[in-house]
Amino acid sequence: MCGIVGAVAKSNIVPMLIDGLKRLEYRGYDSAGVAVIKDQSIQRRVNVGRVAQLEQDIDFDQFKALTGIAHTRWATHGGVTEGNAHPHISKNNVALVHNGIIENHQELREELTAKGYNFYSETDTEVIVNKVDDFISQGSDLLEAVQKTVALLKGAYALGVICLSESGRLIGARSRSPLLVGIKDNEAFLGSDMSALIAVTNQFMVMDDGDIVDINNGQVTLYNSDGDVVERDVKTSSLSANAIELGQYNHYMQKEIFEQGQAIADTLEGRISADKVLEQSFGHEAAHIFDQTESVQIIACGTSYYSGLVARNWFEKFGMRCDVDIATEFSSRPHVVPEDALVVTISQSGETIDTLTALEKAKKWGYKYSLTICNAPESSLVRTSDLVFMTHAGPEIGVASTKAFTTQLVSLLLLAIVIGRRRTLEEKTEHSLVNELRSLPVKVEQALAQDQQIAKLAQRFADKHHALFLGRGLHFPIALEGALKLKEISYIHAEAYPAGELKHGPLALVDSQMPVIAVAPNNNLLEKIKSNIQEVRARGGQLIVFADQESGMDADAGIEVINVAPVDDTISPIIYVIPLQLLAYHVAVIKGTDIDKPRNLAKSVTVE
Ligand code: G6P
Repeated sequence: MCGIVGAVAKSNIVPMLIDGLKRLEYRGYDSAGVAVIKDQSIQRRVNVGRVAQLEQDIDFDQFKALTGIAHTRWATHGGVTEGNAHPHISKNNVALVHNGIIENHQELREELTAKGYNFYSETDTEVIVNKVDDFISQGSDLLEAVQKTVALLKGAYALGVICLSESGRLIGARSRSPLLVGIKDNEAFLGSDMSALIAVTNQFMVMDDGDIVDINNGQVTLYNSDGDVVERDVKTSSLSANAIELGQYNHYMQKEIFEQGQAIADTLEGRISADKVLEQSFGHEAAHIFDQTESVQIIACGTSYYSGLVARNWFEKFGMRCDVDIATEFSSRPHVVPEDALVVTISQSGETIDTLTALEKAKKWGYKYSLTICNAPESSLVRTSDLVFMTHAGPEIGVASTKAFTTQLVSLLLLAIVIGRRRTLEEKTEHSLVNELRSLPVKVEQALAQDQQIAKLAQRFADKHHALFLGRGLHFPIALEGALKLKEISYIHAEAYPAGELKHGPLALVDSQMPVIAVAPNNNLLEKIKSNIQEVRARGGQLIVFADQESGMDADAGIEVINVAPVDDTISPIIYVIPLQLLAYHVAVIKGTDIDKPRNLAKSVTVE
């Protein structure tokens, strides 16, 4: 996690570094810092807390430079202190920012301590900067010192390094943590992703694992892990600086919830014809791979995992065997590898290290094909999967995922349809599903129109410490997602249970202080969930039921019913999650939490 920015330019780079950090803050926001080469010294400013605080503390008229690096941190090694904040400096000679974890830091620390290096922080990063300085003191230039240092590192890293004696130079290196090079005339930049650089350039190169970039007074040279000079394509980013502005909204999460109709329309565009899903949208190889596929294994983390749980229902309904695992669990459990299995990874960022590791292991263990459903075009998952299907959600900044989730669901349904076609899915069912999908953006707007009703409902949660979410079948994952949203941003302890499991434990928790939220669409499980609702009501629980207005569910003592416009059962999870997102959002507004940057969390988790 952590965000990195670096620059070597013809004019003052400090405002650009701070702006880049702000755009990377979704990656981590425990502390922030910047180091530049100025007046024959390395000058550093660091702050515990947000980038805005760092910005306030900098005297921009005085703190100007042409070469610098900056960092926003999500703490791993060492607590949240100024001493642990990046950039780290060795002997006022080398400054370095790092995203990742160095596993062999202890042995390197001991070796460097024996050589006389004093460590001021608890971080693993400080060993890297000292090691670079150590090689420089033995005669290496900055590039060679970084090359020799990374050869010793075990773990994951993206690095930006500057050195006092080579003031127009910036070295970047990456292995299993993301890093891009931004290019503009005779200037060049480093960033953890394009959002950090979009205000200064839209031209960029993606570094491969093991690559080292030498930015030397505007000249950019890339080396691979063997030390050979390599060329990487210069690409044009489609990201616009405006797309990541807040505009009329109070929070990114609110903006992103309200963008879902458009995001779904964008994800569907060019992927469906009048009555069919266009299989080519999964890539040239797709038809061949889908013909061979005998089972699907979904792997993901967090919200993306819940979209996989919904999708399992679709795959199996259309006759395709499907398993779903949390990435770390997939990596940890034994496997009987099925023949001709398609591994489907789902990820907003495409950089979640747990998902990447699970994919690597799956390939090693003999899972044959891979497909990723992803929102970040140049990400590691996209580059390492056989097939790629992009969710066109646009940049998602709020840490709590919303539009990425609903566009993942849409993408997974398209995938389940093209694979299901080869199994039990009938043509006429595909036609009607495609029609339903086309109507989704309008249905999303209808669901969003309930915003104020849900804002009122949220008032009942503000003083609560616990909440229970219930769902069945397709909607159990929606209950899980609703509970996750509430806990992430309002810090209310929320649990989700399959409604049928209520009597096997959680019923013991139900009392008047525990709101119970039930997701109860009008499907074949409605009668069962109605019985579960009565079980709660009989024990004095306060129920809030999200139900189809045609389901015959009436408000009663202890039961509040929020009517949802009728929607086809298969696509209903995509609609029913929306009021739950709004509920979590409004509860957090009332509680006054930091909605877009909830404590202790980060959007893109690039450490194990
Ligand atoms: C973090 C984020 C979640 C996200 C999860 C998986 O925990 O806070 O919002 O769902 O990572 O991220 P990915 O980018 O792989 O979807």
